[in-house]
Formats: sequence, C-alpha cells, structure tokens
Amino acid sequence: MPLHFSVFITVSGQKGGVAKTCTSLHLASVWAEQGKAVCVVDADRNRSALAYGIRGELPFAVVPVEAAAKATRSADVVITDGQASSDEEELRHLAVGSDLVLLPTAPKARAVELTVELAQLLRHVGVAHAVLLVKVDLRQQRAAQDARQALHSFGIPVLDTEIPLLAAFDKAENQGIPVFAATDDRGRADTRRMVGWSAYQTVAKEIECLISKPSSAVSRINATLPLSA
Ligand SMILES: Nc1ncnc2c1ncn2[C@@H]1O[C@H](COP(=O)(O)OP(=O)(O)OP(=O)(O)O)[C@@H](O)[C@H]1O
Ligand SMILES: [Mg+2]
Repeated sequence: MPLHFSVFITVSGQKGGVAKTCTSLHLASVWAEQGKAVCVVDADRNRSALAYGIRGELPFAVVPVEAAAKATRSADVVITDGQASSDEEELRHLAVGSDLVLLPTAPKARAVELTVELAQLLRHVGVAHAVLLVKVDLRQQRAAQDARQALHSFGIPVLDTEIPLLAAFDKAENQGIPVFAATDDRGRADTRRMVGWSAYQTVAKEIECLISKPSSAVSRINATLPLSA
C-alpha cells in the first residue's frame, strides 16, 4: 500500500459569522480545482458546510465530523470547519490534529479582540496558526490596516492577503457553489466574483508556503515574525 501524506488545516474562531465556513469551502475549492483530493470536515454544530454543499454543487466532499475518519483516508488536503473552544485540553487536541489553524477575522474591534484571545491560547499550547483578514470593505481599508497592526502588536501572524467584502460570496452561498460561479438574480455572472476567487487563490498559495516549512520553523515564525513583513 503506498504511503499517503495529507495536510490538515482547521478553520476556527470564537466569533460567529466571521466567514469560517466560507473560508473552508473556498480554500477547498481552490485546491480541488488544482486536482488535489480535498475533503472538508464539518465540525460545527450548525452544519453550515454540509448545508452549503447540499444546496448546490461543490467540487469536493463535505462530511460530518462523525464520518471524518474514513472519508479523509485518501485526501491530500483535509480542511475542518470548526467551532473554537477555549478549553485547553481541546486546543491541545487541535495542536496534534492540525498543521495550521486559520483564524478568519473581520476588521472590527470585537472580532479582533476574540482572535487575540484565541491566538494567545493557541500559542500557549504550541499550535501553528495565522489570521486571515476577511470581509474587508475596500472603501474602508483603514479598518483593515488598524486590525493588522493591532494583531501584530500582540505578535500574532497575519496573512498578507485579505478577503474583500463582496456580495458575490452571499450569492455563492445561496446557490451552494464556489464564488467563481456566482450569478446575479438574472443568471448573469456576478461582476466581482473573480476578485473574491483570486483572493482565496492567493491565500491558498500563502498557506502552502507556511506549511511547507518544518513545524518548528512555523511555530518560530508564528511567535516572532509579522508575516506581512
Ligand atoms: N468576504 C465576504 N464578503 C461578503 N460576505 C461574506 C464574505 N465571507 C462570508 N460572507 C457571508 O457572511 C456570512 C457568514 O459567513 P460564514 O457562514 O462563512 O461564517 P461562519 O464563521 O462560518 O459563521 P457561523 O459562526 O455561523 O458558522 C455568510 O452569509 C457568507 O456568505
Ligand atoms: Mg460556519
């Protein structure tokens, strides 16, 4: 039997509605479009990722956490759409189970505060992690800059790429498809859809660079370097 190595990414966060599911499904879509075997594990009690996939068509499997052990057996990439816990024991399990924990965060005060709390706990238990700024209103870039700076001041790594706030993501969610296929009410291609799609493509590349480093190096980077430097 050939040996098979998978990459495990968990998308997590304490704040609701901060694009955890959207991020899980779009990163999965990017890697699936590249021909990788991808599996999304829906570990959230609200089962949004499963519902998203059932509504339309996604180019990869979404499975409930209870089915994950078998379903992920031959996957190249396993992305878990998770719900954050501040329980230290659960976070330690996350450390063992993930190559990277991604923390989508909107550039808003409460979202940033909750991410700082969670990132500090993750650092304490030695989990490699990085923040992804999401729902960035392109007319209010200042808020994103402030959020980035605040996170850096706590030594928390932030990916360079930001995900813009786009109605195309809502349309894609309603249609159960990746954002690149989103259409408007009249069935015409959404004009901004590729802006959102290319942002997630760039995020996927950044993540590939991060996790290709030895885990000790990732932890060191996490602890010391602002990733946008
Ligand atoms: N970049 C974006 N621009 C605009 N809307 C977005 C963006 N990303 C996500 N959304 C929308 O925001 C809403 C919440 O996103 P999502 O369900 O992914 O968040 P979540 O963190 O998984 O929420 P929950 O805590 O309920 O699981 C959805 O309606 C989604 O379509
Ligand atoms: Mg969700």
